[in-house]
Amino acid sequence: MNPDTSKMTHDDDASNRRQFLKSAATAGTAAATMLASVPRVHADGSDQIRVGLIGCGGRGRGAALNAMDADPRVRLVALGDLFEESLSSARQQMRQQRPEQVTVTEDDCFSGFDNFQAVIEQSDVVLLTAPPHYRPDHIEAAVAAGKHIFCEKPVATDPVGVARVRQACQKADEKGLNVVSGLCWRYDQGVRETMDRIFAGQIGKVISSQANYLTGPVWIRPRRPDESEMHYQCRNWYYFNWLSGDHIVEQFIHSLDKAMWLHHDQPPVMAYGMGGRMLRSDLTQGDIYDSFAVVYEWADGTRTHAYTRQIRGCMNQTEDFVYGSEGKALLLKHSIDGADPWKFDGPKLSMYQQEHNELFEAVLGKRPRINNGGYMCDSTLMAILGREVCYSGQLITWEQAVSSPQDLRPESYDFDAPAPEVKVPKPGVYKFPVSV
Ligand SMILES: NC(=O)c1ccc[n+]([C@@H]2O[C@H](COP(=O)([O-])OP(=O)(O)OC[C@H]3O[C@@H](n4cnc5c(N)ncnc54)[C@H](O)[C@@H]3O)[C@@H](O)[C@H]2O)c1
Repeated sequence: MNPDTSKMTHDDDASNRRQFLKSAATAGTAAATMLASVPRVHADGSDQIRVGLIGCGGRGRGAALNAMDADPRVRLVALGDLFEESLSSARQQMRQQRPEQVTVTEDDCFSGFDNFQAVIEQSDVVLLTAPPHYRPDHIEAAVAAGKHIFCEKPVATDPVGVARVRQACQKADEKGLNVVSGLCWRYDQGVRETMDRIFAGQIGKVISSQANYLTGPVWIRPRRPDESEMHYQCRNWYYFNWLSGDHIVEQFIHSLDKAMWLHHDQPPVMAYGMGGRMLRSDLTQGDIYDSFAVVYEWADGTRTHAYTRQIRGCMNQTEDFVYGSEGKALLLKHSIDGADPWKFDGPKLSMYQQEHNELFEAVLGKRPRINNGGYMCDSTLMAILGREVCYSGQLITWEQAVSSPQDLRPESYDFDAPAPEVKVPKPGVYKFPVSV
């Protein structure tokens, strides 16, 4: 850490703290009531908002920048990652990009499977951006410690994990904590306005929707000599269902969440579908599929037809189509065709920035408290339901998914422990665990 930078930061902090206390003392009654309704973010009595980052990869670094840009009082104070190499490169990069707001020293960097505990302890707000499998542990621990949360999607890879997060989010309510989800399209001005217009009847009665997330494959991290299987799987988390939830859960959740939103956050009653892996043919690519096609049916009889594929050289398209009795909406294009055509042309902030702006405003009591726990759990489960109908080849109901005992946790979190078996599910043979 550069000592000069550190001194400058502390001096600035002292003056900011005085200013903050002065403003708080002169704030109006309404603002004071709102501030009183949220837990103090300034555990040390200063005006700084201490932010800790857990999972220092691409999204985590982006989220940390969004958090620092959301409020000048934000300080990045602690980093956690499974691997030391990610920690040191993240610390270096973040300090370069925001020298005045990044106060993390080497002593504030934590590695290993239990990295999150120390980061949570040092923070007022935590950014949970590790691979999806770990999210239930991280959310539970953050809520238990009374910390505000930004958490990336999805929030689990199995129904037991979803149930744990749901319970933790209910506790977050009891404790007055904010929980903002990285299902970022909910924070996009163009999608928000398109959705509002659909709800106001601009395409008539909604009949059905279609979600396409057709892209190429993602990164693969080659196996290192002498690396244990568990270590390899943890580094290549995307390719292992227990860690990522498969790409229908890890990536396609963005589209499924919009279908959930379209149905006023009421989950579908059942789903069926098909999928497989045509090109991911060897086990270095883990156990995930490359294609899924799912039909979700809601209680009102409407359906969402959902397609996702990760194969190079094919038609690519990411769009959500909503068909109504008097028109059609394209959610990502923010446009409506039909009797009353419209296209969003307003200015808009990056949705990633917007979600942090709203989080920190809520933490500071400048807007009502936010808890996105309900839809982030339901959309995660909707994606898991889609995965499981394709893996099994069976129709599965929402109720069966909610109460399923499926729990993908390994026997032990240890690089020397046996890794979960890599077995690609065969439709017609694989069985989704249901409660009897
Ligand atoms: N909202 C979005 O648009 C968006 C975009 C990208 C990624 N994401 C989500 O963000 C999460 C991370 O994705 P990414 O692209 O940054 O992946 P990444 O591989 O770049 O980063 C993940 C980081 O987490 C670390 N990690 C692994 N296990 C950990 C553990 N147990 N504890 C702490 N850290 C651990 C890894 O070492 C790595 O540094 C995923 O859930 C992904 O779905 C969301």
